[in-house]
Amino acid sequence: MSECQTEGGFLDYSEDFYRSHGRRYSEVSHLRVRSTYINTSHPAFKGDMDLQARLVELAPGRKGLDAGCGPGARDVHHLWSMGFDIWGIDAVQGNILEAQRRHPEIADRVSVADLRQALPFPDTFFDFVMCNAVIQHIDPESLKATTLPELSRVLKPGGVLQLMFKNGSGVISVYDRVFGVDRAFLLYEETKILEILKEHGCDLIETGGRGELGGLIYFTDYKPVDHCVFYVRKSKALSTG
Ligand SMILES: C[S@@+](CC[C@H](N)C(=O)[O-])C[C@H]1O[C@@H](n2cnc3c(N)ncnc32)[C@H](O)[C@@H]1O
Repeated sequence: MSECQTEGGFLDYSEDFYRSHGRRYSEVSHLRVRSTYINTSHPAFKGDMDLQARLVELAPGRKGLDAGCGPGARDVHHLWSMGFDIWGIDAVQGNILEAQRRHPEIADRVSVADLRQALPFPDTFFDFVMCNAVIQHIDPESLKATTLPELSRVLKPGGVLQLMFKNGSGVISVYDRVFGVDRAFLLYEETKILEILKEHGCDLIETGGRGELGGLIYFTDYKPVDHCVFYVRKSKALSTG
């Protein structure tokens, strides 16, 4: 059993981390100093903003969900300020309170919800969903049985999911120099995740004809940990996941 594993999965570990470091995480996140990456496999990808720009370009409309929006809900606020109908959820109440403190104007757009359970949104509600650096905290059973099916369910036919995750197999422990602590994360293999998403009607979006972001994109963050990010589109033939 790894150091972060508990009977209920991995959330206890992240709750402890965000309870202690949520305010600092929010500050660092809003400075975007950790949002530029190294060893990126796609020439059009340098950081989070490139991903977000491509996501909203691919999406069929402007209603979106940030699933695991983090302390301060930086991306919910950013997209809201650009006129998107964007909502955010996070399992840790302190993270949502920090978002409401920092951005009172989006207070009613962020709420507590656990991605290991059914999501509090109707079928086919969103044009796009972003889920960045979250499933590293979710155990494989919940991911397969609930999280990925739910993210697919809430997407409209033709809707787009952006999924970023720590890439590999097993669990990695690293020293996080920004927060001065050791952290442990679940790693996931991209092919296995894509298989599950396909079962729920979502297929990989390949790189665009003019080199726009798509396909399997790899990069390394500052910790350093290897990541993968991709976009999938929900089949237009499906009305539910
Ligand atoms: C590394 S942060 C990423 C935040 C944000 N997506 C970003 O890219 O900056 C991971 C977030 O996932 C949240 N999280 C972990 N497990 C979760 C779960 N089961 N359901 C919802 N959120 C979860 C954590 O509370 C934390 O805010």
